[in-house]
Amino acid sequence: MPDLKTFLKDNQQSFVEMLKELLRIPSVSTDSRHKEDVKQAADWIAELFRGLEFETQVVPTQGHPIVFAQSPPVPGKPVALVYGHYDVQPPEPLELWTTPPFEPTERDGNIVARGATDDKGQMLTHVLGAMAWMKSVGELPIQVKFLIEGEEEIGSASLPGFIQQNKDLLSNDVVVISDCSQFGPGQPAITYGLKGIAYFELKLTGPNRDLHSGTFGGSVRNPANTLCSMLASLIDEHGWIHIPGFYDDVLPMTGDERENFAELPFDEENFKKQLGIDDVHGEEGYTTLERRWARPTLDINGLTSGYQGEGAKTVLPGVASAKFSCRLVPNQDPHKIAEALREHLRKICPPGIKMELNAHHGSPGFVVPTDSPYIQAAKSAIEQGFGNPPVLIREGGSIPICSEFAKELESDVLLLGWGLDDDNTHSPNEKFNLGDFQRGIEASAQLWAEIAKITK
Ligand code: BES
Ligand code: MN
Ligand code: MN
Repeated sequence: MPDLKTFLKDNQQSFVEMLKELLRIPSVSTDSRHKEDVKQAADWIAELFRGLEFETQVVPTQGHPIVFAQSPPVPGKPVALVYGHYDVQPPEPLELWTTPPFEPTERDGNIVARGATDDKGQMLTHVLGAMAWMKSVGELPIQVKFLIEGEEEIGSASLPGFIQQNKDLLSNDVVVISDCSQFGPGQPAITYGLKGIAYFELKLTGPNRDLHSGTFGGSVRNPANTLCSMLASLIDEHGWIHIPGFYDDVLPMTGDERENFAELPFDEENFKKQLGIDDVHGEEGYTTLERRWARPTLDINGLTSGYQGEGAKTVLPGVASAKFSCRLVPNQDPHKIAEALREHLRKICPPGIKMELNAHHGSPGFVVPTDSPYIQAAKSAIEQGFGNPPVLIREGGSIPICSEFAKELESDVLLLGWGLDDDNTHSPNEKFNLGDFQRGIEASAQLWAEIAKITK
């Protein structure tokens, strides 16, 4: 048998080939036309685990299957549970992809495909890190369990129930998740906090049909006008959100934390340049990193009303709707926010307009202590894999199930992102750096050895 390091070096190309195979499966969880593809992705991962002789199951749910696998127990050692997702966001708009989203292509040291970084590539690093141990040493130094789901991008509806019913099966000391980002190219990070989310859809109905805007305009309320003014009133030019009670439970940043953020080498000029904007904007009194990582926000995600086709059409639309969401910080309760919003919108919705508010998924924000032995283990593993010690960061994205792991399984949670902020997650031309893919696999392989040093 080769030793671990030799195996890792010698198999780089075959790791990439495996990633490409998984990326070719269009496992778009939100689109029912892809239901079979989603299942196929689950089966593909299960086969990989079975090949390592891990005890493996593909568990059907009301939605998409959950893949669970585990290596043999190692008595006296901590147990790690890797969480990841094999579902992806829809690839549209297709015309903006340079190469088709489900034909993975190597370009400039990256692999380009939907799901490359979010989360197939990042998730696979841990499967391959475990594979490397099995195929070189013949066993893992700790027991590693894997929980890979297919509904993360649509709110993880089936997972809380599965966790509730399988607490023994899933029991662990530390959950390991790679579904976020490094601080920047060449600067790996450990993420100790994520935002939560509360997602809404608001529909306003005015007259019982679309009307001629000359014949009727100015005499009846236009739901599109009303939608714009209602939404605009929710957040002001200072970046302050006007929903009564919205800030009541916000956990403020500590002074130390603000200092730590300020010490990170964040290049705001480059940030603006990358995004093609001439200025940043957000809540007054906070820096860009603070706004992105630790302050609650409100953003419109989609607006629909009236005529959207070519040219002009003078219409007064009968309905107008919007999707919008708040990113939440720790201690804000998504249900409480939804109720406060509902009551507030009811109050400001004017006569002549009927309102319907649908609260979609919600999840709380999340922070973990930065002084745990698992963070130390991860620091050392990342330094070995990436050749560079990680910095501690928070991020603005959400992984809804994180807080359940802490609450229901009493796990420590390690968020080890191998991605980059410019990976185009959820957008056309999603990519993952192949160097980071390999370094992620090596860091993962080291992580199992570092965790084995921790006494339970
Ligand atoms: N991988 C992301 C979460 C993420 C993104 C964490 C960037 C840290 C940095 C995940 O797949 C995702 O997209 N989550 C959704 C959650 C939503 C569907 C409930 C999100 O954040 O929008
Ligand atoms: Mn993800
Ligand atoms: Mn995602």
